[in-house]
Amino acid sequence: MTQSTLEVSHLYTSFFSERGEIKAVQDVSMRIGKGQVVGVVGESGCGKSMVARSIMGLIKKPGKIVSGSILLDGQELTSLGENELCKIRGKDVSMVFQEPMTSLNPTMRVGLQVQEVVSIHENVSKEEARQRTLAILSAVGIPEVKERYNAYPHELSGGLRQRVMIAMAMVMRPRLLIADEPTTALDATVEAQIIALLRQLADNGTSVLIISHNLGVIAQLADHVYVMYAGHVVESASVFELFDNPLHPYTLGLLRAVSSLRSQSKVLQTIPGIVPNLAHLPVGCSFAPRCDKCMARCTSTQPELVAVGSGHEVRCHLTKRVDAQ
Ligand SMILES: Nc1ncnc2c1ncn2[C@@H]1O[C@H](COP(=O)(O)OP(=O)(O)OP(=O)(O)O)[C@@H](O)[C@H]1O
Ligand SMILES: [Mg+2]
Repeated sequence: MTQSTLEVSHLYTSFFSERGEIKAVQDVSMRIGKGQVVGVVGESGCGKSMVARSIMGLIKKPGKIVSGSILLDGQELTSLGENELCKIRGKDVSMVFQEPMTSLNPTMRVGLQVQEVVSIHENVSKEEARQRTLAILSAVGIPEVKERYNAYPHELSGGLRQRVMIAMAMVMRPRLLIADEPTTALDATVEAQIIALLRQLADNGTSVLIISHNLGVIAQLADHVYVMYAGHVVESASVFELFDNPLHPYTLGLLRAVSSLRSQSKVLQTIPGIVPNLAHLPVGCSFAPRCDKCMARCTSTQPELVAVGSGHEVRCHLTKRVDAQ
């Protein structure tokens, strides 16, 4: 198998609070090939952003990566210090954060914010950094770039602000771009434009990790999908396989919720119950208390992630292991 751009293996990230250890990420493994788009879905609080922040080296106290490995083109990131991570962040790996308004500096013109990324990572003249900034702002579809370069974040619409964030993340042509809910705050037209932009980026060789609640966004963009629940990957498969042959009861629940929204059905199908408290996870399968297929074993033994076919893995006692083909 060719080397992946990103290879996360058995990652555990926790927050240590007075209430105990909050296990935000547990035994997460994922790989992303060059130019591949990989999606992560799951309900709020299931650990999606913490996986992203772990990769970026942005887990702050009281949180920490407890164990596991994160390789970027073969380089181990978990053992790097803050100075080394700063050189990689924004240049080799960049992230579009979930909250664009809080991630942009409200007191600085947006053009200068993008330009600063170039100046930090490369020894180029101010004029060259400015030209590169104008080029990337225009590449992400910002009209009248010269005027917009001088705008402050609050003077731009949500869609334009998100484009500035993406321009900032793309300006150094990173090997990996992580987009955490990049379209949640946007209307459907702008969402479609941002999706097309991310797809184009991947077609030019950048690997993309896209995090979203929205299975529709994932279906349009991702090649491969990881479904997360309570800090764990519970299912992973190619996007076609996941939508054609979902096996984990949680994935089935997520898909049913989407199809009931789309259909004329008056009954909105939801998954009963809520995501468990990550400081007090149930013994056995974390999804068991909400699962309509729960068996005695599910409440006593934690299921392992098993391969059920080529590139398809499921963490459920109902699923039979199939030896890798
Ligand atoms: N600073 C913190 N201190 C303690 N626990 C935290 C902290 N940040 C995150 N967590 C825990 O990590 C869990 C996972 O959070 P995360 O932000 O990854 O969820 P998410 O899947 O991205 O949710 P959303 O879809 O709402 O963005 C949370 O449920 C919370 O328990
Ligand atoms: Mg999040």
